[in-house]
Amino acid sequence: MSLTIWRGVMSAVTHAIQNRHSTRAFLKRPVEEGLIREIIDIARFSPSSGNLQPWSLIVLSGDDLSQLKEEVDQTLAQSPKGEGMGYPIYPENLKAQYQARRAKCGEDLYATLNVSRDDRPGRAKQFARNFSFFDAPVGMVLAVDRSMGHGQWADLGMFLQTLMLLAHERGLGTCAQACWTLVHKTVERHLELPEELMVFCGIALGYADNEHPINTLRTEREPLSEFTQFKGFV
Ligand SMILES: Cc1cc2nc3c(=O)[nH]c(=O)nc-3n(C[C@H](O)[C@H](O)[C@H](O)COP(=O)(O)O)c2cc1C
Repeated sequence: MSLTIWRGVMSAVTHAIQNRHSTRAFLKRPVEEGLIREIIDIARFSPSSGNLQPWSLIVLSGDDLSQLKEEVDQTLAQSPKGEGMGYPIYPENLKAQYQARRAKCGEDLYATLNVSRDDRPGRAKQFARNFSFFDAPVGMVLAVDRSMGHGQWADLGMFLQTLMLLAHERGLGTCAQACWTLVHKTVERHLELPEELMVFCGIALGYADNEHPINTLRTEREPLSEFTQFKGFV
């Protein structure tokens, strides 16, 4: 491969990484099945330890998506806090530095909607929008075999990021949604997942509504020096 092409490839990856942001409001515009297939067909080249490829993906649109959302709505009407988590999204005692980052991200998100820290109903209302996939035309469920361990869950993250970057490259917005584990029983039952599979997360997919204030959120990142040590360089 010539250097010019190689630089071109690098720049596309860099651009996608630096410009992808979670999308939480979508246009009604549908997404062609062929485009989604193309994204997944490339994302399957994500690396995984031992090449286990421990991901399972269910892609929902149209009536199938509506039916899942309706059933989840019924579950949440009966149990507003959900069914208990299928796995802990965060450790029980999140250390202060991580808790601070989580809180800041939440504050910044609600600030885009002018929802204040004390406005519990306002926050709950926005949080509930997760369970409509933020009205995205496509909702995906990323599942994993229950027997898999930490290593394979890291592989799921690889797959997830690859999928989101490919979607971004094609002009699509995404939001990974671990909160779907709060209704994991309903999702697993409704989708008739085999007993050995469990829900890791949902992924909203569609064309971003760039006029919506929630999509203006730009989250912060720590500088390299906060988490990287260089040794042996002169
Ligand atoms: C595995 C995973 C689960 C997430 N779960 C949710 C979720 O349930 N709801 C949500 O609104 N955002 C969720 N997010 C989005 C994160 O809040 C977001 O990625 C983070 O704040 C960084 O912002 P950015 O994606 O805009 O760069 C999740 C992201 C990841 C990677």
